[in-house]
Amino acid sequence: MNKSTYIPALGRREWTGIYDWVISAMTRERVWRSLVLTALHPRTGEVIVDLGAGTGSLGIMIKKHTPGVRLVAVDPDPEVRLIGERKARAAGVEIDYETAMGDAQLASVGAAGADAVTCSLVLHQCPLEAKQSILENAFRLLRPGGRLVLADYGEQPTALMRTAFLLVQMTDGFEPTEHNRRGAIPQLLLTCGFKRTKIIERVPTVTGLITIWRATKEI
Ligand SMILES: C[S@@+](CC[C@H](N)C(=O)[O-])C[C@H]1O[C@@H](n2cnc3c(N)ncnc32)[C@H](O)[C@@H]1O
Repeated sequence: MNKSTYIPALGRREWTGIYDWVISAMTRERVWRSLVLTALHPRTGEVIVDLGAGTGSLGIMIKKHTPGVRLVAVDPDPEVRLIGERKARAAGVEIDYETAMGDAQLASVGAAGADAVTCSLVLHQCPLEAKQSILENAFRLLRPGGRLVLADYGEQPTALMRTAFLLVQMTDGFEPTEHNRRGAIPQLLLTCGFKRTKIIERVPTVTGLITIWRATKEI
């Protein structure tokens, strides 16, 4: 996989149209997205960047909760952007989209230009170097004191959760997903400069445990 290729939302391009339905049916989406929202604690006037925003479900939730934030949704896939734009119009919220990889410089947010960054269900799909470069970019985008909230498959401590996670591994590939399962995320956060990494919650789902992490770029 070269630096500008990516795995589509559900592993295969032809499945993108059913992404929202699958995530809703198989990940207890409302539970973990609400935890992300609470951990992000958005405030009016803030700039929030969603890296690998996909079909925009999290961004729409954030904007409905706090209409006064500027939400920048970044994803390399133009197909999910179209779905996200349609959903945002239907929900009556305004989201700024950028079609770009998660480690790219953004046209509309400079270094230290974001108050918060979020990234959900993206890193498990990415090779190890891409996981790191996305987290480095999150660190670069955040202002000092800014916060990062991640939601993704991490360690799967029980046999039941390891078995459940096999479905994700078969869909998105064993190589990228295995790093997450072996606990790479907290170490990568540290490597990229984040401090005070905290597990907010681990949500058991039929596709494995989804972990919510919060970390800070210290002043
Ligand atoms: C499983 S979907 C998650 C979408 C969304 N964040 C959510 O919570 O539903 C993964 C998304 O990450 C995007 N993606 C894959 N590789 C990426 C990368 N290197 N940088 C940014 N986005 C990437 C895909 O295009 C896809 O939309």
